Amino acid sequence: MSDAAFQECINPDCRATYGVGEVRVACGKCGSLLDVRYDWGRLPVPKSLSYFEHRWSTKGTSTEGILDFSGVWRFRELMPFYRTESDVVTIGEGRTVLQTADLLGRQMGMQGGKLLLQYEGLNPSGSFKDNGMAAAFTHARMVGAKKVACASTGNTSASLAMFASLAEMQGIVFIGSGKISFGKLSQALDYGALTLQIRGDFDACLRRIRQIAVDVPEMGIYLMNSVNPFRLEGQKSIMFRILEALNWESPDWVIVPGGNLGNCSAFGKAFKELKELGLVKKVPRLAVINASGANTLNEIYSRQNVRWNEGRYDAEKVQKLYAAMDESNYHPHTIASAIEISRPVNLPKALRALAFMDGVVREVSDEEILEQRAMVARYGFGCEPASAASVAGLRKLLDERVISPSERVVCILTGHELKDPNATVKYHTGIDMKAVQDQAPRSEPKGKFSNRPVPVEDDLESIIRAMGGQPSAIAGMKTKVQRSNLPLTEY
Ligand code: F0G
Repeated sequence: MSDAAFQECINPDCRATYGVGEVRVACGKCGSLLDVRYDWGRLPVPKSLSYFEHRWSTKGTSTEGILDFSGVWRFRELMPFYRTESDVVTIGEGRTVLQTADLLGRQMGMQGGKLLLQYEGLNPSGSFKDNGMAAAFTHARMVGAKKVACASTGNTSASLAMFASLAEMQGIVFIGSGKISFGKLSQALDYGALTLQIRGDFDACLRRIRQIAVDVPEMGIYLMNSVNPFRLEGQKSIMFRILEALNWESPDWVIVPGGNLGNCSAFGKAFKELKELGLVKKVPRLAVINASGANTLNEIYSRQNVRWNEGRYDAEKVQKLYAAMDESNYHPHTIASAIEISRPVNLPKALRALAFMDGVVREVSDEEILEQRAMVARYGFGCEPASAASVAGLRKLLDERVISPSERVVCILTGHELKDPNATVKYHTGIDMKAVQDQAPRSEPKGKFSNRPVPVEDDLESIIRAMGGQPSAIAGMKTKVQRSNLPLTEY
């Protein structure tokens, strides 16, 4: 299957291509992001999306049964990058639901049947990340990876840890010290990942793990963050399932919270491919919602009017913004810790998705996020704070009359309510459980399977040691060559 699939640089002035067997997180020539591309003419593509319906009734433990059970691999003809079905990794991800939310919609003045919530928190690890991990782990298995790692605001690490344990690879996660919710931290520990609590925020963690994956090949790290183009292939399936639930009709709007901007990028790619293949007529509009305390995309897109411009976007404006952030020692801060990110690595792809889906970007305050999160829980079945940014964004866009009450809107609820119970308890009672936990007396963990997080300074040598590597690995570091190849935004 895989020779009709390849990786391609998204920069229109480069367009370098690489085989799917190569492990890359950026173009080797110009440093831009990569896409997974397909020569569809050489692949068996269904004539209509209803083709996938026959898979709903598949049963059993045969490979076909297992793949059909997955809400990702049920659509495998639309992400055919793997060599054989034995490469495919699945843990039963993507069996999520699209729920009509009339009670919530009514509170917002929407017409009946027009507001729908896509509950991605129903994935095995409790967030949408499992869609992408299924695809990235499939690629990791294809290339024989043994150690997989990511930086995370919590959900990527939970998902990676779960998949790594089931796929028998070593999982390593970098999290910002005190930056992720307890629900998510508990998952990474429970699934046995080596959990490094780096003194820094998500942006610092991602910078470090990319540096190690790219510049210290001796460490043998396969990077699982969404700069890995295979992750985004799996995340396309969220759109396929929404179409499926709507009897293959596109909604008018898709609204999604924006953090590192992998999800919205994947949505744009999904619809671009479906349109090119003639499998959908209409492309929905996209709204990406930032938290005000981590609003880089909104600043760049809505205030500074940076547009995709066929790939020739104004990168200088972006660099200036990042330089100003550095100068003022800016760090993002929001109650929606999952999207507390100030240098979204998928920014160019997000601009491309916004261009293709005629998108808008907004930001919402922590207060709006918390109020809408509580509304979702009151009239639905709950989500974590970051997810509610989508609903808070809808409210704003309804107020602005950008979205009309008669339009069909899907809000993506990216993570489960139980991911961050502290935020919920604090909202309802005023008690800050995290502060209480921080002050609680500690004892040595005694369980046979206890897996303590390892606190580490944001320093390359200390991190390599904590990962079990030798500091001498840094001596061979290809820093100069590779760094100059990655755009400034990436480091
Ligand atoms: N919602 C939740 C619950 C998330 O965990 C994330 C990202 C997002 C939204 C934003 O998605 O990055 O594709 O724009 N969480 C990442 C993590 C960064 O490490 O778990 P995005």
